[in-house]
Amino acid sequence: MPIATIHSLDNEGRGITRSAEGKAVFVEGALPGEAVDYTVVRKKKTYEQAEIHKIVRPSAQRVTPRCAFFEKCGGCSMQHLDSNAQAAAKQRVLENALWHIARLKAGIIYPAIIGAPWGYRYRARIGVRYVPSKGGVLVGFHEKRSSYIADMTSCQILPPHISDMLVPLRELIDGLSVRERLPQIEIAIGDTETVLVFRNLVDVEAADIVRLRTFAETHAIQVWLQPSGPASAYRLHPDTAPALTYSMPEFDVTMTFRPNDFTQVNVPINRVLMRRAMHLLDPQPGERIADLFCGLGNFSLPIARSGATVIGVEGSDALVARAGENARANGLAEHTEFYAANLFEATEDSIAALGRLDKLLIDPPRDGAMAVVRALGPDAPRRIVYVSCNPASLARDAAVLVYEKGYRLKGAGIANMFPQTSHVESIALFERD
Ligand SMILES: C[S@@+](CC[C@H](N)C(=O)[O-])C[C@H]1O[C@@H](n2cnc3c(N)ncnc32)[C@H](O)[C@@H]1O
Repeated sequence: MPIATIHSLDNEGRGITRSAEGKAVFVEGALPGEAVDYTVVRKKKTYEQAEIHKIVRPSAQRVTPRCAFFEKCGGCSMQHLDSNAQAAAKQRVLENALWHIARLKAGIIYPAIIGAPWGYRYRARIGVRYVPSKGGVLVGFHEKRSSYIADMTSCQILPPHISDMLVPLRELIDGLSVRERLPQIEIAIGDTETVLVFRNLVDVEAADIVRLRTFAETHAIQVWLQPSGPASAYRLHPDTAPALTYSMPEFDVTMTFRPNDFTQVNVPINRVLMRRAMHLLDPQPGERIADLFCGLGNFSLPIARSGATVIGVEGSDALVARAGENARANGLAEHTEFYAANLFEATEDSIAALGRLDKLLIDPPRDGAMAVVRALGPDAPRRIVYVSCNPASLARDAAVLVYEKGYRLKGAGIANMFPQTSHVESIALFERD
């Protein structure tokens, strides 16, 4: 078995080394600086996948995973690396993506945004499976590289009150008539409310409703049912309850959302990321600023609070409606316009139709914003703040911005939005003359 030194991490948190033939080898669970004896489990033309056989020289930053289910559960992949070191490793992942994909180095590396390493997931989708051979119902994340649900009784990245609910949830669902037709639960936590949305593929019975109501009372949560698509979700208990909200006090903004709306999972990190984004964007009264992939207006409303006018564009009609409602509720309707459009089909004409734009904020899904960056014409804003959840697509888009559109990559940095996982959230600033 080959022994090799790991030189970096890939964006799934695997250690990277090179084989004797010069192929990249991705070693599950190995950390930078470590010497490991590895076993190849998959050979491809240009790379190999491997597992650790033995750690010959461990990293000083290797720690014992806190969670008992870490080896099996696919919810986290980096608990074996010290939490502070994770942020540095993710910064390196971002820099590597920018360099290897786009041959770019950022002018400034911003300090990493870091927060609580545990109990930070304010929203999550957890799976449910009735498995008699395991003693009944399992509730949790998927096992690593598997469609099975991990047999887990606690979770360190969920807030403690949700982690403590995993076993009672197993017992609750085990007693429901629909236990084999209830594949997932959506969890959404707001400033004051916790909502659990049970996806029921068939109608619940009267006895189920009694059990669900009792569960909601006992755990002081709202229980919702979702009989079909996301729009069908409705509150079962209590009969009246406040809406979910999250606040951004620094910008005097409170956002209202439905449990299956897209919102950032880590509310405290979102607040700090917002401060960074506003600092880089530096919105001024009278400016017209586009917020592309605006969702329910997370960035739009803090920008509008500065006195600038925001033109928000988003693919989901439901989120566009929510953004408008949030703008009105925060007294910012006069400074905002929201439109629904498929930005993967953006063209120079469709971007020009938004009117004069002084600055741009882009926060796309994992695939990035290639059509948008290609569509930027000579009159496009000189400053772009790009928030990304995928360093690879950020790097691809950055290459277009820099080599085809004349921008400079002024700065880039990460926010550890998802500690213990390999997900890298980042923010970058582009400017041109
Ligand atoms: C990373 S989220 C950001 C949302 C928002 N900026 C926030 O911070 O909450 C990406 C958003 O892009 C939207 N989206 C996905 N595909 C899209 C498309 N093809 N056109 C426009 N919007 C899209 C999603 O609905 C989602 O709201």
